[in-house]
Amino acid sequence: MNVADRFHNWRRKQRWNKQYRSGRWENLKGEKERVRYEKIVELTEKHGTKNPNILDLGSGEGVLLDYFNVENITSFYGMDFSSVSIKKANKENRNKATFICADLHNFTPEMHYDVIVLNEAFYYIHETKKRAVIDTMAEHLKPNGIILVSIYREGLGCWEYFKNDRFEELDFSTITTNEEKTYWKIGAYKLN
Ligand SMILES: C[S@@+](CC[C@H](N)C(=O)[O-])C[C@H]1O[C@@H](n2cnc3c(N)ncnc32)[C@H](O)[C@@H]1O
Repeated sequence: MNVADRFHNWRRKQRWNKQYRSGRWENLKGEKERVRYEKIVELTEKHGTKNPNILDLGSGEGVLLDYFNVENITSFYGMDFSSVSIKKANKENRNKATFICADLHNFTPEMHYDVIVLNEAFYYIHETKKRAVIDTMAEHLKPNGIILVSIYREGLGCWEYFKNDRFEELDFSTITTNEEKTYWKIGAYKLN
């Protein structure tokens, strides 16, 4: 990213912090979003290994973790560049979980994971960095590890990064709600 891109990224981070501070993202904990999180848990149980180590990229406050039965996972590692969201995530005393503040554009995981999640986060990655972020994810997947991607509505400029020869598509669903314009597409992938 050039200097202008880095500046915009910094500005976006400030905006996310402000929004998390004001409670703008409390809606993620609401009923309407439930189907999306439940689908991710379902795909983890269906295609992931037993008792997985999970990495959640752009985890925000860690809402996804609350949908898992922690008895059934080994660990949950969330990262987000919004320090406010990470502070909120760490406020709750959460078993088996770690949340750290980091930027997806230059984040390198310290270990390998059974499940790597990009839950409503991929479209925030700068276009020139999407490929590199996917390379990093692929390098940090355990054998038989899976990548789960959720994208709001059509996700233009996103799915082509997963729907290609590099990955086998294990699952692809559209998750609808009672509002016509509120839906997500969720895919499960493993490396070919
Ligand atoms: C719509 S929220 C989704 C949060 C969470 N995945 C969920 O579904 O509950 C998008 C998240 O991506 C994070 N994000 C955006 N750009 C990021 C970046 N460059 N690095 C890390 N996190 C980022 C935001 O701070 C925000 O928490």
